[in-house]
Amino acid sequence: MTPHLTRENTQPARAVAGNPNNCQLMIPMFAIMSGLLLMAVFLLLAGRVEAESPPPNKYVAQRIALMSSQKKALQDLTAMTRDYIAFDRSSARAARRALIRSTRRIPRHFRRDVTDLSSHARGGIWTNWADFKRHADAAEKAAHALNIRSASGLRRSLPRLISACHNCHQIYRDTPREFTTH
Ligand code: HEC
Repeated sequence: MTPHLTRENTQPARAVAGNPNNCQLMIPMFAIMSGLLLMAVFLLLAGRVEAESPPPNKYVAQRIALMSSQKKALQDLTAMTRDYIAFDRSSARAARRALIRSTRRIPRHFRRDVTDLSSHARGGIWTNWADFKRHADAAEKAAHALNIRSASGLRRSLPRLISACHNCHQIYRDTPREFTTH
C-alpha cells in the first residue's frame, strides 16, 4: 500500500531537487551542525535537571519504608479476616508484633523536619508535633489491642487500627486515598 502524499511533504523534496549544486552540499553540513548543537543543548539540559531534583532524602526514604511495611502487615491481617488466606495464628502474631514495633517508631522516624519530592508529609506534622505523636500513640494502642486468637477476633479488632492509620493520614498526609492503608 503506497502512503498518501500530501502537498506539505512533497513540496520540500522538490525544492531541494531544484536547488543549485552548492546548496546541495550546504544542506547536509547544516544538518550536521544543527544536530551537534541540539546534542549540546540536550546535554546541558540533562545536567540541569539532575541538579534540580536531588536524590531522595535518607530520612524521607526511611519513614516511607516504615509506612510501607505497616501496609504490608495490615494487608496480611486483612486477608486473613476475609478468607483470602487461611487464618494462621503464628503469622498473625508476627504481623501484630511488627505493627506494634513500627507504630512505636513513627515519632522517631518523623522527628526531623525534612522533605523531598517523593514525600507526601504535610508541614503540619512539625507545627503540631504533640498532636502528631498522639495519633501515633493511638495507632500503637490499636496494634496492641489486636486480637490474634481467632479470625473473628481479628475481624473485630482490626477496624480500630485501620481508623488510627486513616485518622493520621487525613490530617498529616497529602492526597489521602481511600484504600492506601488496607
Ligand atoms: C501519626 C501519623 C500516622 C499514622 C498513625 C500512620 N501513618 Fe502512614 N503516613 C503518615 C505520613 C505523614 C505519611 C507520609 C510520609 C511521607 O510521604 O513522607 C504516611 C504514609 C503512608 C503510606 C504511603 C507510603 C508511600 O509509599 O508514600 C502508607 C502505605 C502508610 N502511611 C500506611 C500506614 C498504615 C498501614 C498505618 C497504620 C498501621 C499508618 N500508615 C499509620 C502518617 C501516619
